[in-house]
Amino acid sequence: MDFDKIINRLGTNSYKWDGLEKRLNKKGLLPLWVADMDWETPHFIKDAILQQIQNTPAMGYTIDPDEYWPTVAQWTREHHAWDVQSEWLTYIPGIVKGIGLAISCLTERNEKVIVQPPVYHPFFLTAQGLGREVVWNPLRPIRDDEGRLTGYEMDFDNLAAVCDDKCRILILANPHNPCGITWSRETLMRLATFAHEHKLIVISDEIHCDLALFGHRHTPFASVSQEAADLSITFAAPTKTFNMAGIVSSWAVVPNETLRNRFYSWLSAMELNEPHMFAPVATIAAFRYGEPWRKELVAYLEQNIDYVIEFCRDHIPAIRPIRPQASYLVWLDCTQLGLTQEALVQLFEQKAGLLLNEGSMFGKEGEGFMRLNVGCPRATLTQALTQLEKAIG
Ligand SMILES: Cc1ncc(COP(=O)(O)O)c(C=O)c1O
Repeated sequence: MDFDKIINRLGTNSYKWDGLEKRLNKKGLLPLWVADMDWETPHFIKDAILQQIQNTPAMGYTIDPDEYWPTVAQWTREHHAWDVQSEWLTYIPGIVKGIGLAISCLTERNEKVIVQPPVYHPFFLTAQGLGREVVWNPLRPIRDDEGRLTGYEMDFDNLAAVCDDKCRILILANPHNPCGITWSRETLMRLATFAHEHKLIVISDEIHCDLALFGHRHTPFASVSQEAADLSITFAAPTKTFNMAGIVSSWAVVPNETLRNRFYSWLSAMELNEPHMFAPVATIAAFRYGEPWRKELVAYLEQNIDYVIEFCRDHIPAIRPIRPQASYLVWLDCTQLGLTQEALVQLFEQKAGLLLNEGSMFGKEGEGFMRLNVGCPRATLTQALTQLEKAIG
């Protein structure tokens, strides 16, 4: 795979590229926002889809291929040391939709959902859109001796203070988007104990799980203890790793039988757990043939991240990238620029010609930050950083 190769995604109905104008009404900006990558989806996935089309004379209703769930279970066991039983798994039509479905099924309108900002915005937008009150437990910044932000940790003191008996669900980003954290086993165990004591269900969104970087490891929440397994719904997918979000192929894992029956029977009543015909074949191909590709991707992403960190250190020291432990989203600390959020966005868009996700969309704790997607060829990053350097002057 040539990760340096630039592809043209314009005119393909790409949200990241075409949506810029069609959804945001913005023109001529270099898009480094939506979380997909500017590389061709691996050929072994496209080939599997093409083969499915060629070998299927009539595109009628389908059943899951026999190897679907065993392949997912094997990947999860081998990559994340978590022994998932096939019957714990079910298809879901996208993880954001899965979160909305779980909230709808498992909470009443007067109940509450806890999120830990700055965090992937659909966590709270979905809950709010469904009429549930959101309870905020912001991550606690970790700073070095000179007061510079180096990372974040979960704030268990505040969690205890804000969690009341109307709280039913806590949504965990594991690994965390946008801050790129692979949570430690100790933190996850502590969270499981807290959730058990407060009768919370933890929804663990593990979509970025296959992209742990720089020697970090992903730990599935449900794997850390029996308590965690019993009170959790895990969502995962190959869609980030293999750049196939448009295929919409994701699943839930619910080890606890009572919780599983409650959630899955509800999904099943609406056939929301029935995959479309390309989801299983794309997933099986990704996991059967994708490991060498994934390893190359991780190596390239690590180099991209090093490049951004070094570039900023040498040329734009007022912007400090927080080194992610997973995935291709880099949290840029721009607070030293001393700009209002509006002026910061203006600097990136109008002066530098770049479209990033502004930090405040992930919660007010994200003010002064921007999220940079480095899932692109190095040359694209060079262009973006050079434009930014010039804009800052
Ligand atoms: C943490 C997280 N969850 C979910 C999603 C989206 O998943 P899906 O497309 O399956 O809804 C994203 C995409 O950026 C994400 O970063």
